[in-house]
Amino acid sequence: MRRIAEDGIAQDGVASFPDTQVSPHGQATAEARAAAVAATIARQAVDEADHAMRNWTDPAPGPIRIGSPEHLRMFSNMLLQTHNPYKPAVIDWPKLAPDALRRVTSLPIWDIAVQTEGRASVRVHAFANTVRDPLLRSALEMDGDEEARHKVVLSKLVEAYGIALEPEPEYPVPADPEWGWLATGYSECIDSFAAFGLFAAARQSGFFPEELVETFEPVIQEEGRHILFFVNWAAWYRRSLPWWRRPFYTLKVWRVWVHLIRERIGIAKGIDTGDSVQDANFPMNASGALTESLTPGALIDLCLVENERRMAGYDARLLRPDFVPRIARLVRRFVK
Ligand SMILES: [Fe+2]
Ligand SMILES: [Fe+2]
Repeated sequence: MRRIAEDGIAQDGVASFPDTQVSPHGQATAEARAAAVAATIARQAVDEADHAMRNWTDPAPGPIRIGSPEHLRMFSNMLLQTHNPYKPAVIDWPKLAPDALRRVTSLPIWDIAVQTEGRASVRVHAFANTVRDPLLRSALEMDGDEEARHKVVLSKLVEAYGIALEPEPEYPVPADPEWGWLATGYSECIDSFAAFGLFAAARQSGFFPEELVETFEPVIQEEGRHILFFVNWAAWYRRSLPWWRRPFYTLKVWRVWVHLIRERIGIAKGIDTGDSVQDANFPMNASGALTESLTPGALIDLCLVENERRMAGYDARLLRPDFVPRIARLVRRFVK
């Protein structure tokens, strides 16, 4: 049986009012009915956009060759067609109980998170400006716009809960846009994988209240779409290079990885020495506070399960982020 809430909206989202409501409150009833219908339509639109961002299959049948023009079209369309058009300005941040508010505001991640999104947006747009293919370019522009929107979402969250931020630094346009794009892409592959597990841990443990988890959920899924797009772009790009450029490109990718590993070692040292750590990896900083009840092994398992779940709805012909999960599985053999 459908349960009808006080606002006249059934749990399945369909407005439900008695057909034979009579005056003297006829006017008020009509207005209430119109409001309920409008709320139902709005809720259904939100649910549909949420489903569409998580589930996408290219209608063109048959196998595709990785690195082909069809592959390029597929991963670009995946990003463009799963865009969720939510507006950060209208997000209704839930009121938090005092202890939940204290937990949220005391996390040492908000400066880092805002700055990471700001930097990512500049880097992705800088790379988009170098791309000639119109479809790929518009997918990259959308990716950069979504990073800018993440920054707005975080800024609104910070404002809603009265969290004071450091002044933001400048986000310089990288001298080598390809380097900036690779650094952002591979960095997101690490951070999103960790964030998937940490976010699930925060939900399971009640560290974050359920309403806040729900409000923030689309941002995490968006990062999942970004890394899916990135790994497919990386595979396509490598194959599209002339043979003589591939060794230079491979070297550049290795340099990016060395840079990212050094960056993370620096962050870990900063945490050990209690320095304020204002750099790119907020999941690492959040992990201590969120996962006290989880063993490292259980957290890795959670990251792996969540990674599978978040990627499951997209066309099976697209490559999946593979490198970080493989490392995680390897590490998992040695930790409890
Ligand atoms: Fe982001
Ligand atoms: Fe992203």
